[in-house]
Amino acid sequence: MTTTTKNHKQQQLLPTAAAAPPWPVRTKLLLCAALGFALGVVATASLVNSPSYATSSAAAAALRGGGGALGLVLPPSATRNAAQDRRPPPKQAGAARATVRRSRPEPPAATGITSAAAPPPYVIGAQGPAAPSAVAASRVNGGSIVSDSDGDVDGDDEELMARAAASAPREVPAGCMVPRVAFLFLTRWDLPMAPLWDDFFRGHRGLYNVYVHSDPAFNGSDPPETSAFYRRRIPSKEVKWGEISMVEAERRLLAHALLDDHCNARFVLLSESHVPLFDLPTVHSYLVNSTRLYLESYDQPGATGRGRYNRRMSPVVAAGQWRKGSQWFDLDRALATDVVADRVYFPLFRRFCRRRHCYADEHYLPTLLNIVRRPSAGANRSLTWVDWSHGGCHPARFTRMEVTVDFLRWLREGSTCTYNGRTTTVCFLFARKFLPNSLTRFLRFAPKVMGFG
Ligand SMILES: *[C@@H]1O[C@H](CO)[C@@H](O)[C@H](O)[C@H]1NC(C)=O
Ligand SMILES: *[C@@H]1O[C@H](CO)[C@@H](O)[C@H](O)[C@H]1NC(C)=O
Ligand SMILES: *[C@@H]1O[C@H](CO)[C@@H](O)[C@H](O)[C@H]1NC(C)=O
Repeated sequence: MTTTTKNHKQQQLLPTAAAAPPWPVRTKLLLCAALGFALGVVATASLVNSPSYATSSAAAAALRGGGGALGLVLPPSATRNAAQDRRPPPKQAGAARATVRRSRPEPPAATGITSAAAPPPYVIGAQGPAAPSAVAASRVNGGSIVSDSDGDVDGDDEELMARAAASAPREVPAGCMVPRVAFLFLTRWDLPMAPLWDDFFRGHRGLYNVYVHSDPAFNGSDPPETSAFYRRRIPSKEVKWGEISMVEAERRLLAHALLDDHCNARFVLLSESHVPLFDLPTVHSYLVNSTRLYLESYDQPGATGRGRYNRRMSPVVAAGQWRKGSQWFDLDRALATDVVADRVYFPLFRRFCRRRHCYADEHYLPTLLNIVRRPSAGANRSLTWVDWSHGGCHPARFTRMEVTVDFLRWLREGSTCTYNGRTTTVCFLFARKFLPNSLTRFLRFAPKVMGFG
């Protein structure tokens, strides 16, 4: 879903003879670059005709005011842009509310839908407390309560973000005996790998929550009640590859996960072509015990890095603050809260990083992390393995024949990185992109190689 993000380490480490037969089908969309360029021209033309935005001091002042109220840190002046000057945002006034909520008993996993405090009650899409009529309704419209997403789509999103920012605690309350991992599935349509994920989740209620954002037009049948995906769709809107709607969907997922369960401590973004590489207890412990969050955030010279920065974002986002990174994040609760509370940076991205000359999903979070958190908060690496070695604007897709025991073992242990200050070979907890026809192989190898199923 990203363009030319390349993990050069991964390229060099691709297994050769030992792991897999010669790498077969690599799907590549040659058109995407040309199309992106064409759209970029259109977008640029429209920007040229639009009035100046953040350069107006009134607008900047308004932004600054909004940022302060939300606990986001804005540049003290237009010229000071050194990232290291930034401090973590102050704790929100919501700390007291969070304390009150400590007495909240842990909700049963995957059914706790209503958040304890915030009136109006928070409900995930059509997954509210099971009323037969709600079930029926969800079957009719595909489990989404948002059907008409073409009108004023921003209003309800804004309300959702404001609610999450105001009422979801920034830290996991002390009353949570076990912090949970929120698995955020951003899918285009169905989830072909769901049976593998179900094996992964089975037996570990209480360690995780699942949230699914899919196309509002999705009309597939409900997963069975025993599935971890049963009634876990959030109200969704259409997402276009490479466009700002992708980031909007990510924020929607984060807001729902923040509101739904205050014990959600880590937030992992996944796609329909993702697979897990380790069992859930390993993933859970890796994430909740980590001293860092896993989000790439780096400064890349050239057209696909700094070249995507739009000067109109200055002074709110200075050129020196611009960062790039893989879309596939693992966030902690504090950064997830910053994301939903962000009324300063996101509007700028929506305005100036919306077309395919920019790819907001590769820049918004990496840049936000760079601005609002100290640099060491992020591990500057993604937990999702992808293969960009063939170039192009989509990563390689792997088919059934490429999924071998050796390949999986290599994905699990074939790299070296740092975890909590120590060197480890467990660098990737997930991998993509795997075609649906590889599912049977994963199901077969998972018990032996990955310890579940
Ligand atoms: C689901 O939607 C697709 C196209 O959007 C359509 O081709 C298909 O027939 C629909 N299936 C059902 C069961 O409604
Ligand atoms: C890591 O987290 C798990 C919970 O998933 C906990 O049981 C374990 O003790 C922690 N390990 C370390 C080394 O902190
Ligand atoms: C982050 O990672 C990229 C490569 O993935 C690297 O070029 C860059 O130096 C790293 N930045 C920091 C601050 O470690």
